Amino acid sequence: MGQDALRTSGSGGGLSTTAAPNGGGRGRGLLRGGWQVQNTSINIKIMILCGFVTILVLLATVSIGNLGSSNADAVNQNLIKATEPILAESPSVSVPTDLEEPPKPEVNPPIALEEPPKPEANPPTVSPKPEVKPNVTYTLGPKITDWDSQRKVWLNQNPGFPSIVNGKARILLLTGSPPGPCDKPIGDYYLLKSVKNKIDYCRLHGIEIVYNMAHLDEELSGYWTKLPMIRRLMLSHPEVEWIWWMDSDALFTDILFEIPLSRYEKHNLVIHGYPDLLFNQKSWVALNTGVFLLRNCQWSLDLLDAWAPMGPKGPVRDEAGKVLTAYLKGRPAFEADDQSALIYLLLSQKDKWMEKVYVENQYYLHGFWEGLVDKYEEMIEKYHPGLGDERWPFVTHFVGCKPCGSYADYAEERCFKSMERAFNFADNQVLKLYGFSHMGLLSPKVKRIRNETVSPLEFVDKFDIRRTHEETKP
Ligand SMILES: *[C@@H]1O[C@H](CO)[C@@H](O)[C@H](O)[C@H]1NC(C)=O
Ligand SMILES: *[C@@H]1O[C@H](CO)[C@@H](O)[C@H](O)[C@H]1NC(C)=O
Repeated sequence: MGQDALRTSGSGGGLSTTAAPNGGGRGRGLLRGGWQVQNTSINIKIMILCGFVTILVLLATVSIGNLGSSNADAVNQNLIKATEPILAESPSVSVPTDLEEPPKPEVNPPIALEEPPKPEANPPTVSPKPEVKPNVTYTLGPKITDWDSQRKVWLNQNPGFPSIVNGKARILLLTGSPPGPCDKPIGDYYLLKSVKNKIDYCRLHGIEIVYNMAHLDEELSGYWTKLPMIRRLMLSHPEVEWIWWMDSDALFTDILFEIPLSRYEKHNLVIHGYPDLLFNQKSWVALNTGVFLLRNCQWSLDLLDAWAPMGPKGPVRDEAGKVLTAYLKGRPAFEADDQSALIYLLLSQKDKWMEKVYVENQYYLHGFWEGLVDKYEEMIEKYHPGLGDERWPFVTHFVGCKPCGSYADYAEERCFKSMERAFNFADNQVLKLYGFSHMGLLSPKVKRIRNETVSPLEFVDKFDIRRTHEETKP
């Protein structure tokens, strides 16, 4: 672990824990800057700075390692709560940004864990708040103002397409990847595994799935592409109650767990995050837009309309990025991303939006991979699927790995190995239904875990995931 931290901080210039969407770019920028320095005294200063940073990283890493292995559950819990979101989360960037996002040459001081006062990092949230100036002429489409009544009429006229099926609201899971191939073939292999994982989950839970590879709006490229997609799907599928966005680098790791929809009856946006980080710390990782649910309703169209105008590429996105960096704690300097923009919107117009936003952290609607992938064996030993929280995470999200791109914030080997483990951890839960299991969490090979029988229905009854779920429901 320490080694990895060293490696990433050494090669990336920025700590892995800042995990900026183009962290790799940042790293290269720093290096490039470094080569050009002729003056050795400056070089020495840089070395000293790097050494200092490395020590900070080591200290942080060591203390986390120690605590993590302690058995005190409460401590663990708090630690996870306190550090998980601050550590290394970054905007979800799984619909990678292809070529549109050139490396940023800025040198962003690495952000330490609990952010000890660090004058040269982001200027600590300036109080007279700067304002993002969205492109006021940009829209996602014609302004719709009566979607709720239009949709209601349609639902009444089309009883064959009910929004509630067998007592459950209809959900459509949306994910996707760029139109072209990944930078390396192994990236495409993991995209395939990732979509197989999602298909399995959706199939077993009666959820529809859409995989999008088209850029629906040239202006909203990169991490912003999800916005026009979501709007299009809402308008084209009035029968769907919830659109569930999920990044391509997020995997379901609890195949049994179901979203507790009844909890969200009065809400329109469900997103993983921490209210304290959001409102008190104004942290740029207070929420994670890699996985969220949005109700198909007028409120959501309004939210998308308010959110999108910060995203059109070019000067608006660049300028908005500067304001977001000044406004949000821990945010490196780079153009506006959808996650920072949403946080900004919810903070600056709290009264308008927050009533309908459910900030979820009782289970891992988004679970940051780094603290989870090494604990799968322990989870298997102690717990069982269906819990969804740190005991058996619902979603493991590979923030900062960018399997389809070239530059990640973490070592490639570690990322792919961890993804393999997460995939197999999940796949074992699927294969169990059919009597098989992977030989190990890193093995693509499988073994038989029960014998064939002449009365197979016994097993169907025993392993039917939908029924198991009913039984385990609280
Ligand atoms: C604002 O959006 C409009 C419509 O998409 C576009 O034509 C214009 O170039 C944008 N302006 C800026 C400054 O990006
Ligand atoms: C399958 O049956 C064989 C022979 O009866 C037995 O030896 C073996 O342990 C069984 N395997 C499993 C996985 O139950």
